[in-house]
Amino acid sequence: MSASEPSKSLKRSSIPGQAVLAKTFHWVNLISLVMMIASGLQIYNANPVFGGRAGWHFPKVLLLGGWLAGGRHWHFAMMWFFAINLLVYGLYIALTRRWQRRFVSSSDIQALQVGRNPKRKMYARHRLVYTAIIPVLLLAIATGLAMYKPAHLYWLSGLFGSWQTLRIVHFMTVPIVVLFTVVHSLLALKVGRFRLIKSMFS
Ligand code: HEM
Repeated sequence: MSASEPSKSLKRSSIPGQAVLAKTFHWVNLISLVMMIASGLQIYNANPVFGGRAGWHFPKVLLLGGWLAGGRHWHFAMMWFFAINLLVYGLYIALTRRWQRRFVSSSDIQALQVGRNPKRKMYARHRLVYTAIIPVLLLAIATGLAMYKPAHLYWLSGLFGSWQTLRIVHFMTVPIVVLFTVVHSLLALKVGRFRLIKSMFS
């Protein structure tokens, strides 16, 4: 046995373990979201939500699909991965009761308001952000479905008043998801340094 081996195994054991299902969800979510955003921006560029055809366009490097129909094909193909993955994850955390550890609770709110332990507050902040993104992802799905099948889901499209409002709400989920990703990563870095980030990807 070489002298470096024990320290290697020690390093490995200090990386927190993540359930395979949680890692799978994370990967599928990340990849499908990136593809949903890139193909969505391709659709956007055909007729910008703000300012019509003469409005601001996104650079080619951020797009997926090549043209409007290509973007739509990618968007509608990836929506299955994205939505089914979220549904399976929802069932998984409900059945295993993981949601109790992952999502914000009244004790987290209390810790944020009156707590003195900075680490406890950091965990509470993390869970708050983690919880807040769920309704945003559901809103992306609901507004997307309302535009995808407006005749069948007229009641859902009707909730938003006009087509333009529906488009704006759907589009606004993009900057929120991007901001979430940045905050989520920074908090993970602060709570567990690179070990925690590594644990999701190794
Ligand atoms: C999974 C459920 C989703 C469905 C059913 C869906 C469906 C749609 C539909 C029907 C359109 C308009 C297509 C067209 O006018 O030809 C669209 C546009 C778009 N989607 Fe989604 N989408 C979903 C999720 C997402 C997600 C998660 C994101 C990113 C966070 C996203 C980003 C966009 C963007 C940026 C556009 C362009 C906005 C516009 O120009 O109107 N979509 N989506």
